[in-house]
Amino acid sequence: MRAFVLCFLYLFFTPTLQRAFSAKQSRKSQERASLPPRGWNSYDSFCWIISEEQFLQNAQLIKQRLQAHGYEYVVLDYLWFRKNVPGSGTNAAGFDLIDQWGRMVPDPDRWPSSRNGKGLSEVAKKVHDMGLKFGLHVMKGLSFQAFNANTPILNIKTGKTYEEGGRQWRAKDIGIKEKKCKWMPQGFMSVNTSLGAGRAFLRSLYKQYAGWGVDLVKNDCIFGDDLDIGEINIVSRFLSGVNRPIVYSLSPGTKTTVAMAKKVNKAVNMYRITGDDWDKWEDVVAHFDVTRDLAAANMIGAEGMLGKSWPDLDMLPLGWLTDPDSNEGPYRKCNLTLNEQRTQMTLWSIAKSPLMFGGDMRNLDDATYSLITNPTLLEINAFSSNNREFPSITASSKGGQLTTKGGQETHSLGLVSCMDSKAMGWSTKALDDKTEQLCWKGSSNSTQTPMCLHKKKTSLTFEKGTMSEKGTMSKQSDQGNFHLFATHAMKSCLDASPRRDFASDDFMRDSFSPFRQDDDNQMWVFNKNGTLKSSRSGLCATITDVKDIAGSGGTRSWIATGRKGEVYLAFFNLNAQETVISTKIADLVKSLPKQNLNKVSCNGKELWSGKDLGVIKDTISMPVESHASVLFVLNCK
Ligand SMILES: *[C@@H]1O[C@H](CO)[C@@H](O)[C@H](O)[C@H]1NC(C)=O
Ligand SMILES: *[C@@H]1O[C@H](CO)[C@@H](O)[C@H](O)[C@H]1NC(C)=O
Ligand SMILES: *[C@@H]1O[C@H](CO)[C@@H](O)[C@H](O)[C@H]1NC(C)=O
Ligand SMILES: *[C@@H]1O[C@H](CO)[C@@H](O)[C@H](O)[C@H]1NC(C)=O
Repeated sequence: MRAFVLCFLYLFFTPTLQRAFSAKQSRKSQERASLPPRGWNSYDSFCWIISEEQFLQNAQLIKQRLQAHGYEYVVLDYLWFRKNVPGSGTNAAGFDLIDQWGRMVPDPDRWPSSRNGKGLSEVAKKVHDMGLKFGLHVMKGLSFQAFNANTPILNIKTGKTYEEGGRQWRAKDIGIKEKKCKWMPQGFMSVNTSLGAGRAFLRSLYKQYAGWGVDLVKNDCIFGDDLDIGEINIVSRFLSGVNRPIVYSLSPGTKTTVAMAKKVNKAVNMYRITGDDWDKWEDVVAHFDVTRDLAAANMIGAEGMLGKSWPDLDMLPLGWLTDPDSNEGPYRKCNLTLNEQRTQMTLWSIAKSPLMFGGDMRNLDDATYSLITNPTLLEINAFSSNNREFPSITASSKGGQLTTKGGQETHSLGLVSCMDSKAMGWSTKALDDKTEQLCWKGSSNSTQTPMCLHKKKTSLTFEKGTMSEKGTMSKQSDQGNFHLFATHAMKSCLDASPRRDFASDDFMRDSFSPFRQDDDNQMWVFNKNGTLKSSRSGLCATITDVKDIAGSGGTRSWIATGRKGEVYLAFFNLNAQETVISTKIADLVKSLPKQNLNKVSCNGKELWSGKDLGVIKDTISMPVESHASVLFVLNCK
């Protein structure tokens, strides 16, 4: 009898214990994002137009050149489901492809392997065969394409239309038209996640992505200004249940706060903390404050979905690039100086941001390659700890006092009521070649050069117009509408639309975008009283000269501790002139994790110059060029 009981207990418990053990083990071995994810993303170099061939060419080069340095994800960014044909573009509507269940499917003309319902599974397979992981950008919620077609909702359990309460559910039952994606209002809307059918639709999307073999989901228009906790939680629950480690990433990060990060971090593995980062110095500078705040709140490497979570400073727009909103592939070099690029890479590394290189791998120059594979920076990025801003530094210019003179000026667009006298700063100026410019003089007595834009009537740009709006447009141009181009090259225009990547509500730092003939955000009317009215909003433009943001950005410093006890100390000079940055060893020691007052002297090297510091007992001090940074690797005893 006793033997029987024991035997019974044995039979009963063993499989349970084994199951529990192996579940724990496999969960551990599948921990998501135990290090900041690292890879490549197609957006900075292709915007949206990348083809299957170009994507796989880049993946192959990641394998050959970057995989050994820990770059493992190749991420396909947005609008892979949009037809790349005349009239289409990032702001176009009606060019997206969906399946019978209202789910996005790749355009077979751009993704030939997707024919016959294969989706992106062949692409994922090729990426996996290279030993890499496949990442996919997806938008939140439901597309207008599916909403307008009122497609049925798939129940993934039955393979049939979702039924509840004795009825079948369709896209129009779940889409919330009032909750459009803020930066793509003509493309996507939220779904109602309190409805069973809304949740069923989301599950049907992610079942398909998981089925294709996706290893990282970059879910866009769902964080920052577009925060949708309901959808994030449903997606997170679904991805946690997939028997394969899928990393969950959120975007964008406009106006991210620590409180917002804390609402999502456990459900995800990475989340953006700023608007889009492009190769502009202001964009680099814009990362320092929010990154400092998240580090101070211990959010770097905090708990995440079945693993860890990482504040994401965005892709690295280095190397060979295109522009935001472009319909053009990579065609230009990164516009940051080498010093600025090093500053960006150093901050991204010491803040342990995911590192997603954005340049075209097919045209990777040596300087960019050595920067993104710098062994010290990559070691810091993956393995350092105690990463945070270190405030105990002092700064002085060579002559003593810091001045902000000579700072770069950038122009920011503001929109105010046309009745506001602040808006009356515009005048026309005729050029020799009989074209006209419109110039903003500003309202001050300043020495700043007036900002002039090239005026071009919209009607002139409509010679070949085939759009259905043509009639309306030429009528508008009769009323004095025109575009304002930044330069004679007539490529980018003053744009009044709320953009994806502006830093504050008040000003659009990024006031220019590629010319679009059918966008009334780019059309302006000049009033005789010197005001310039946006055709879309009826508001009037003011231009603010933002004196080099760096002028007020000053100097920053970060510290971190290495795996072998070494101390990493970075100085960042955001000023427009060379600045000497210093810190006392005593202050440095105080902020190290294991406070040890015996540690009173340090030795080590500076990374970029290779300069050996010798033994330092009192103060570390170094002149840092404008927009540059220095990085010390120290051993303190
Ligand atoms: C979402 O669905 C719930 C349940 O039917 C309903 O009460 C609510 O009004 C809906 N929300 C929106 C924004 O449509
Ligand atoms: C590149 O930067 C320079 C100043 O450093 C600026 O004058 C130029 O307009 C920038 N070009 C682009 C495409 O942003
Ligand atoms: C300038 O002129 C426009 C058009 O006549 C008018 O609507 C606006 O109120 C005027 N603004 C100012 C500040 O006088
Ligand atoms: C005009 O210049 C003086 C001296 O540079 C300065 O103090 C003053 O603030 C300026 N006025 C405006 C309106 O910017």
